[in-house]
Amino acid sequence: MTLSKVLDQIDRDIPAATDRLLELLRIESISTDPAYAGQCDAAADWLVADLQNLGVKASKRATPGHPMVVGHFGQNNTGPHVLFYGHYDVQPVDPLDLWDRPPFDPAVEETANGKVIRGRGASDDKGQLMTFLEACRAWKQVHGTLPGRISFIFEGEEESGSPSLVPFIKENADELRADIALICDTGLVGQNTPAIVTMLRGLLGEEIVITGPDKDLHSGMYGGPAINPVRVLARIIADLHDDTGRITVPGFYDGVPELPQSVRAQWDGLDYDGRELLDEVGLSAPAGEQGRSLLEMVWSRPTCEVNGILGGYTGDGFKTVLPSQARAKISFRLVGTQDPFKIREAFRAQVRAALPADCSVEFSDHGASPASQMQIDHPAFEQARAALSDEWPEPAAFVGCGGSIPIAGYFQDLLGVNSMLIGFARDDQIHSPNEKYDLECFHKGIRSWARILDAMNQ
Ligand code: BES
Ligand code: ZN
Repeated sequence: MTLSKVLDQIDRDIPAATDRLLELLRIESISTDPAYAGQCDAAADWLVADLQNLGVKASKRATPGHPMVVGHFGQNNTGPHVLFYGHYDVQPVDPLDLWDRPPFDPAVEETANGKVIRGRGASDDKGQLMTFLEACRAWKQVHGTLPGRISFIFEGEEESGSPSLVPFIKENADELRADIALICDTGLVGQNTPAIVTMLRGLLGEEIVITGPDKDLHSGMYGGPAINPVRVLARIIADLHDDTGRITVPGFYDGVPELPQSVRAQWDGLDYDGRELLDEVGLSAPAGEQGRSLLEMVWSRPTCEVNGILGGYTGDGFKTVLPSQARAKISFRLVGTQDPFKIREAFRAQVRAALPADCSVEFSDHGASPASQMQIDHPAFEQARAALSDEWPEPAAFVGCGGSIPIAGYFQDLLGVNSMLIGFARDDQIHSPNEKYDLECFHKGIRSWARILDAMNQ
């Protein structure tokens, strides 16, 4: 009865909710680029003000990097204490020329597949985090208060590896501890199946710079006798995988579990095998480990990818240069109990061992977080599964996730708090040009949280 009032309020308020999201999207909160630090700060201020509007005691909290936003509501209320997490930072927008509209001038666009909110962060993660805040707003408009006891934490460094998060959580552990964390930063399965993520991959980021000659050289004078660091780097990278797609770093597969039969059966039962993932981007042949299904490749197997490579002359025209340096950014997605620190050492040893005479290597690290596994026996999981199934055309599924959200593991390890990850992204081109969030996902996402909060507070 009262839930239906909240759902009606959500339906009525969608235009205003969309406007609020557009306002947040106009803030250029790119966390990886120091030039945007002021905008990250502004996004944090915006969220503090919005939480305060909801009656939440909220503040911006300084860190060595971008600020956290923390808020609390109803500390003396009964019912489960929920900690909601989202991130207000977004990915850089390059290549800018591939955007059909300026990334920070967002708008609702009519497309062949319905209305979309277009702009950087529309989906990842501003649109998604606003689904929860809008559910809270509608609840407040109907009931004059929020459901139960809710705390909020929004960070501004998720897209750059969350460097300030661990110290912040440690320093504020008592304040942040809750019965369960809710994270809205993942997607649906396919188009219409709501998903609760039960396993999340970890991430190890490494950058390597190989130096050979002490300056760039003329490749006619020196090519042949002089070692070329780009060739050295190319061989090292090529040797990271064998012919079956397995990763060759010694000990890499320690702690990689086989998929339990029960989980495999659940995934097999889904009306989704991941093929769309390739179709949508103009590909046809899965290129991961041989003998693994596409869903396994994305959800439950570890990977090693080269994210960037640089060396020599890459400008217009041609230059016969033998470069002094070659550089690559390489990331590993981790599963099970793979140890990111052991893998980092093994990877570095493998690179060092492959260096020919006269070459040296420098490493810099870009974060190391282990995979996490959620405890799905917490009652909230069944409540959410039922609530989501009521909202969407298909029943909710327990699934894996290809991406990484380091905080889920930290909540578990540092606070002993289990995370429930529910998100409403489709093929949203997150991190790519023309990022969007379907208006339907925004709308049904808000309704979903209202239903989940209702179920959890029965
Ligand atoms: N929202 C994504 C995680 C995600 C990606 C969920 C794809 C579902 C599908 C998140 O913001 C993200 O991109 N995380 C980074 C982590 C990193 C920079 C430490 C990632 O996965 O690369
Ligand atoms: Zn995200």
